[in-house]
Amino acid sequence: MKIFLDTAELDEIRVAARWGVLDGVTTNPSLFAKVGGSYDGVLREICGITAGPVSAEVVAESVDGMLHEGRHFARLAPNIVVKVPMSEEGLEAIARLKAEGIRTNCTLIFSANQGLLASKAGASLLSPFIGRLDDVNANGMDVVRELVGIVKAHGLASEVLVASIRNPRHVAEAALAGAHIATVPHKVLRQMIHHPLTDTGILQFRKDWDTVRAPGHHRVSARAVQPERVTPKPNAAMSGQTRHEGRDVAR
Ligand code: E4P
Repeated sequence: MKIFLDTAELDEIRVAARWGVLDGVTTNPSLFAKVGGSYDGVLREICGITAGPVSAEVVAESVDGMLHEGRHFARLAPNIVVKVPMSEEGLEAIARLKAEGIRTNCTLIFSANQGLLASKAGASLLSPFIGRLDDVNANGMDVVRELVGIVKAHGLASEVLVASIRNPRHVAEAALAGAHIATVPHKVLRQMIHHPLTDTGILQFRKDWDTVRAPGHHRVSARAVQPERVTPKPNAAMSGQTRHEGRDVAR
């Protein structure tokens, strides 16, 4: 399963790229609002960090507006994918962008049927929002399982990109469900790396290493250990064996 970072923060993206785990990036207007500046500028910078798909979201609600914004984003870099919301206008925009050779990511998907329609319209990526479904007491992962099942059963060309991920468990379950991509906040990516036993294990190994190498540390060498007393068996001369702590040891 590919892992995308769900952020517009350049430093977070650079770090994930250095870790060797970054396959792409998703942004949206809310994530961009946390960064500010120029959306085009941020998108260009992100596309310079990763060669993977970078989703840039339209805010227009009309088909013409979506097409205008989508074409503009697509000119920024070859790896831009235009993010279009699930709606009647969105479906038409996806179909027309597809006809122009522009890849799209259909966002705000909350049911398998929405995903099916987006795929038929020509979206490259289908983004079910699982955290937001869980927030309203539904099961977001059920939608992922259904959509992955539909895509695979019918050999659809789209990839399922699990979005609105809130915790590492969501990522593991998305992978088990056969999703193609999970887009994760930087915080969740870090949570995936760490485990309390891993972290305390690293500390303990370092502590033991430092202790043994500290000046004045008296290391007990194998030679310094007194040989254990070996008591000959009464018939040792005949059997060629000695008794060693209750066990027979061949000479
Ligand atoms: C990514 O494509 C989505 O826009 C994002 O995952 C939404 O996440 P949220 O529900 O935490 O805002």
